[in-house]
Amino acid sequence: MVWPEELPPTPEQLLENVVGCDGLLTMLSDRIDAKVMDAAGEQLRVVSNYAVGFNNIDLSAAKEHGVRVGNTPDVLTGSTADLAVTLLLAAARRVEEGSAEVREGRWGAWKPAALLGVEPEGKTVGVVGMGRIGKAFAERMVRGWNMRLLYTSRSEQEDVNESLGGRRVELDQLLAESDFISVHVALTDDTRNLLDAAAFEKMKPNAVLVNTARGEVIDQDALVEAISSKQIFAAGLDVTTPEPLPPSHPLVGLPGVIILPHIGSATDTSRCGMAEIAVDNILAGIEGRPLRCEVPL
Ligand code: DGY
Repeated sequence: MVWPEELPPTPEQLLENVVGCDGLLTMLSDRIDAKVMDAAGEQLRVVSNYAVGFNNIDLSAAKEHGVRVGNTPDVLTGSTADLAVTLLLAAARRVEEGSAEVREGRWGAWKPAALLGVEPEGKTVGVVGMGRIGKAFAERMVRGWNMRLLYTSRSEQEDVNESLGGRRVELDQLLAESDFISVHVALTDDTRNLLDAAAFEKMKPNAVLVNTARGEVIDQDALVEAISSKQIFAAGLDVTTPEPLPPSHPLVGLPGVIILPHIGSATDTSRCGMAEIAVDNILAGIEGRPLRCEVPL
């Protein structure tokens, strides 16, 4: 069956509708855990996530249930890196505030010091998590704006060091030295709330923070405080907790913050590429063939 509604299924609806399925093609809003796999039944062979991230799937439950898991890497790397650059520039140049002035009839006289922003040229960019998307983002920033590159990563990335002059450092050093910080880690127990109040205290007052990974990597209450108290300059977010973020949330409309509705991979090219991989994955899983993109369990 294809879920017919505009809104994703509730956990209860998911449990009811998976019964008897051999494969599930899931969105990042569907939480797939042992309960869902039990409800589906023993014939369930594959969960094909329509996303590169798979934090919505309980991998140990999948392993226990003998269920393979697929994701959709590569085809969205460039589009997501592009959106991180877009958010970085938009936050740095206060695009949201300027645009609101125009929309709300507050566009006054041209003033030398109105809506002053910060420039990336020659500054330091810190990339938290140097996977595929982190690398594509770093390339854009170093090649486009001649930036000094710091990054965190589980292992040394020799190609990044050689081709982009990157330096792998501890998170604390990255936070203290970067003018622009972009988050590209997967959400795990280790990265949840990685950027908390203590992290914001280490950042520069001119720092611009971008997140196109997962909202839960940032402690949002701490971010509200850091922006409101001018501990950092600005933030550009494509991901939040929860999603959708209610319009009443203190981050919405906070000067210095621009928020987009999780559209990192929202281009025709990426979304069609993701669809092809997700369909290949579910068919291969049902037929017992190797998945085109399989998440190791
Ligand atoms: C992903 O694929 O994980 C993105 O967050 C949505 O494209």
